[in-house]
Amino acid sequence: MGGHGTFLDPRLPQGKGGGTGVNNIGADGVDRVSAHLPALQEYQYSIDAPAAPAGSYDGAAAARGQALFAGKANCASCHSGALFTDATEGKLHPANASVAADKVYITLSATQQWRTSPLKGVWQHAPYFHDGSAATLADVVAMYNDNPNRPLHLTEREQADLVEYLKSL
Ligand code: HEC
Repeated sequence: MGGHGTFLDPRLPQGKGGGTGVNNIGADGVDRVSAHLPALQEYQYSIDAPAAPAGSYDGAAAARGQALFAGKANCASCHSGALFTDATEGKLHPANASVAADKVYITLSATQQWRTSPLKGVWQHAPYFHDGSAATLADVVAMYNDNPNRPLHLTEREQADLVEYLKSL
């Protein structure tokens, strides 16, 4: 894209003074950016995540975890569809949807809302959440389970099963 053109986003103030929402990149005022963004997003969504290595999770526990993910633990209400996110349907969630430790970052964002993280290949990239406040997938599940806004009341075994399922994605 070469860094040229006018990128329009009404949520962004121009510079520190605030104002028009127009970010002028280049002198000719031609927008060479916006038209490319949908194709770039589709490309990113089309990249396959690496499969979990053979033997890296317990299959029977993962199958029980899958049922919990869709059922009692209700994870699939946000982590839905082939990519395990409702962001592909354009959904965003309020600030309290994140169980991460940090509560400030969201207040600095353009929408002040969260996009549900896709979970394919999640085994590969600890630490988790935007601030890395969950060191392991077991920490992730414990933080959801203990979420004061919506405690899940999962048993130790159910939590372990859910972790095995996450490791399989
Ligand atoms: C209300 C919607 C919602 C529900 C329900 C939900 N999540 Fe999330 N999930 C999110 C959002 C939003 C994020 C990003 C939060 C952040 O980064 O602070 C996220 C992040 C994650 C991550 C971190 C991914 C990464 O790459 O760092 C994992 C793992 C995860 N969720 C698993 C689960 C599991 C397991 C459940 C069920 C116990 C669950 N989620 C329920 C919305 C949800």
